[in-house]
Amino acid sequence: MNETLAALWQARYRENAPTEALAFSENATVRDLMAHRSVRAYLSEPLPAGALEIAVAAAQSAATSSNLQAWSVIAVEDPERRARLATLSGEQKHVAAAPLFLAWIADLSRLERLAQRHHTTADALDYTEAFMLATIDASLAAQNAVAAFESLGLGTVYIGGLRNHPEAVAKELNLPPRAFALFGLCVGYPDPAQPAAIKPRLPQKAVLHREGYDAAAEESLIAEYNARADSFQREQGLPSRAWSEAMVRRIAKKEGLHGREIMHESLEKLGFPLK
Ligand SMILES: Cc1cc2nc3c(=O)[nH]c(=O)nc-3n(C[C@H](O)[C@H](O)[C@H](O)COP(=O)(O)O)c2cc1C
Repeated sequence: MNETLAALWQARYRENAPTEALAFSENATVRDLMAHRSVRAYLSEPLPAGALEIAVAAAQSAATSSNLQAWSVIAVEDPERRARLATLSGEQKHVAAAPLFLAWIADLSRLERLAQRHHTTADALDYTEAFMLATIDASLAAQNAVAAFESLGLGTVYIGGLRNHPEAVAKELNLPPRAFALFGLCVGYPDPAQPAAIKPRLPQKAVLHREGYDAAAEESLIAEYNARADSFQREQGLPSRAWSEAMVRRIAKKEGLHGREIMHESLEKLGFPLK
């Protein structure tokens, strides 16, 4: 990625970078991270050899709670399986189009098998904390993989739609009990004919609190963001909309969860009692 830090900051926040931040302009890691954009249009060209393995090495290099390493990832290249997962994820065409789909798994099953081989109990795995831990581990790992893929010139998009039908997905991926598919990730070369843009985020002051939580300026910060997010929408040829309104619509009713309101039940069925 060869955009300057100043340009990336401007694109992310739609305001100038503070001078102190520009002191880090030569830092390629930060520039790569700030250049992130989700890609939903892919070429069919496969990934270069070794790309999956290097990304998983980056993923496994992430910190992991107590070194429990409570996650797995399933690489799906078979076009028919990708098509079925696209359907299960809410007919998201990029899942079928991208040459690689990764399903990120909160995986307590390996630890359970370990306990069984040691002829001991695994009572701690029944608790909500264990599921949270596995979810956190898997998410940290996945984001390292995303950073690695992006550094190789590949594009990605996470697929939360994979949680639309958790039991059917578990069946499709042959998951054992105590393994849960948290989200997917499409990976491939971005189609240069449909480039993705950097999507602005909330002003940093809305998310960065110092010494304690402070929402005093929140309303005006969100108003600023609404204007910036709306400009982005219009530049992208998308319908004009205020971020606030879209988010409020999304959270107003349980229907905004698109069927995922049964998650607790699904988790119990898949081996997570969440005590
Ligand atoms: C856990 C997670 C699940 C997501 N699920 C989907 C999805 O199912 N489909 C999709 O097109 N984008 C999905 N996204 C991508 C977000 O929509 C995207 O990250 C957000 O709009 C910000 O855009 P950006 O990534 O381009 O900055 C998901 C992102 C995350 C982190």
